Amino acid sequence: MNAEAPVIVTGAGSGIGRAIARRLLADARPVIITDINEHALGEFRGSLASEVLDRAEFCRLDVTNAADWEGVVERGRARFGEITGLVNNAGITRDASMLRMDAEAFDVVIATHVRASWLGCKAVIPSMRAGGRGSIVNISSSGRHGVFGQTNYSAAKAAIVGLTKSVALEQARYGIRSNAVAPGAIETPMTNQVPERVKATWKETILLGRLGQPEEIAAAAAFLLSEESSYINAHVLDVNGGELHL
Ligand SMILES: NC(=O)c1ccc[n+]([C@@H]2O[C@H](COP(=O)([O-])OP(=O)(O)OC[C@H]3O[C@@H](n4cnc5c(N)ncnc54)[C@H](O)[C@@H]3O)[C@@H](O)[C@H]2O)c1
Repeated sequence: MNAEAPVIVTGAGSGIGRAIARRLLADARPVIITDINEHALGEFRGSLASEVLDRAEFCRLDVTNAADWEGVVERGRARFGEITGLVNNAGITRDASMLRMDAEAFDVVIATHVRASWLGCKAVIPSMRAGGRGSIVNISSSGRHGVFGQTNYSAAKAAIVGLTKSVALEQARYGIRSNAVAPGAIETPMTNQVPERVKATWKETILLGRLGQPEEIAAAAAFLLSEESSYINAHVLDVNGGELHL
């Protein structure tokens, strides 16, 4: 395992991102833990044991802001050396059926998922190239197949697959792999507000009959970031308990 290899995780103050950061720290990897929400970052820092804090750098990062990205990469490099892993995880939802959704809700969801993941790859790849290796994990979703009330989100999550594969095509020659993890329904603050009756209908379409846990996504991300997955590239790894789609 490439324990010394630093990874940037976005949206790591909550849910899946926090679980990924926690897992990578447990695997002895240095982690640049970022989020737009500084309160969430502080809370996460407070929950960590002092021995893993030696490997954690906490940075505020708005993933839609290119200047923020440059600053975070510089801080990470200064502390740990060239960046070797990136998890584009930060995300939001602004749900409404299409005729009730305004263009602002469409734009902000596309910007936070697609434009931001593009900015992240663009900011981090030069450091990966300088270090001679890298693994990028973009968080898509089983929502990429189409979801009622999520024309913005499902378009964003499908676009992330195209981005992931194009980055893989361009960067393979530099030793950089690019893959996506596509979670199904996972129990996080993002899905906490969903009424239980809706979750019950989700469970009927999931072969395992339950929602997933953030740690189950973290395990997939940690695998794709590690040398254990050295021959996996341009792939979308579904982690959804077995779902049937359109
Ligand atoms: N929970 C699920 O069922 C599920 C399913 C499929 C995919 N996903 C995806 O997984 C990722 C994480 O989702 P989650 O469920 O952990 O959500 P969450 O709401 O618990 O966490 C999202 C984090 O992203 C951060 N964030 C939002 N906008 C940001 C910005 N502009 N810059 C930086 N950080 C920002 C938030 O502050 C928050 O900490 C998202 O991309 C989401 O779309 C989630």
